Amino acid sequence: MSIESHPRILSLGTINADFQVRAEEPLTAGKTLRARDFLRLGGGKAANVAFLARRLGAPATLIGRVGDDDLAAQALQPLRESGTDISNVTTAAGMSTGVSMITVPPSGEKSIVLAGNANDSWNVEAEERLVREIEAAPEGSMLVMDFEIPAAIAETGFSVARRRGLVCVLDPSFAGRIDLKRLPGLYAVTPNAKEAALLAGTGSNGIEGARKAARVLAEQGIKVVCIKLPRGGCLLHHKGQDMHIPSPPTKVVDTTGAGDAFTGALAVALLEGRGPLDAARFASAASACAVSGWGSQPAYPTRDEVENAALCLSAYPKRTD
Ligand code: RIB
Repeated sequence: MSIESHPRILSLGTINADFQVRAEEPLTAGKTLRARDFLRLGGGKAANVAFLARRLGAPATLIGRVGDDDLAAQALQPLRESGTDISNVTTAAGMSTGVSMITVPPSGEKSIVLAGNANDSWNVEAEERLVREIEAAPEGSMLVMDFEIPAAIAETGFSVARRRGLVCVLDPSFAGRIDLKRLPGLYAVTPNAKEAALLAGTGSNGIEGARKAARVLAEQGIKVVCIKLPRGGCLLHHKGQDMHIPSPPTKVVDTTGAGDAFTGALAVALLEGRGPLDAARFASAASACAVSGWGSQPAYPTRDEVENAALCLSAYPKRTD
């Protein structure tokens, strides 16, 4: 099979230029925080997913918007180097590229200020291009999407993909923009605990809250519900069963982009025909690797690193989980 006809990850959503610093404490209103280790990186959920997919060896196409400024190069250069197809990233004239300002305290728990900029600015031409790309994607490709772009665009991408019978995976950020009734046939969803509670309309407390939300989401027809847990790992709900997959042991340096690593790795594993449980273990391992390094894309692991980290998860879920 030539690379052009090989099933691919189509990653639709945000593309950002990330500006990241390390601070001694979390951000507080009304205070100037001293920081160091300033980095300019490529970022954004869809960009991170595509980058991770390439790092794991899967063909990947990124679909999204950048501005006509110098930040577009910052956002796209790492993707270009990774071998991601960026020919369907279009430029919003007169707009800035999306920007994320990221502060990471010693706990590794990042805070992000996001200006969506070009991500929010789609026109008819860009939408038509998105439709053509999904219509022309090789058989067996998979759409991975977020909602940090206009909901109408994400929904168009979804309906074209479903019309073709492609499997769709949703990272439900921004959860408030999502109406699940408009996404019939959604295969997998990867919310964090808060997003899951919002989507399901349940409380968000602990693993029990996640179980409840997962059941509600599954009742809406989603086959694979993978709720990313605050300390890593996930709660997988599939075929009426809850399975808790913990995180492999790791030192948390920086949580930026760890959720995107989870979603990207889950999608790659599913694309390769692995079952949901195996894919969830692989995704938890990828996310654990991602938090152990500084920055999102620069910290993303190779396939060997993920497979090694996943070895200790083969005993999960335990009967008591
Ligand atoms: O999910 C993390 C990504 O989204 C970062 O790369 C940053 O751009 C944020 O907005």
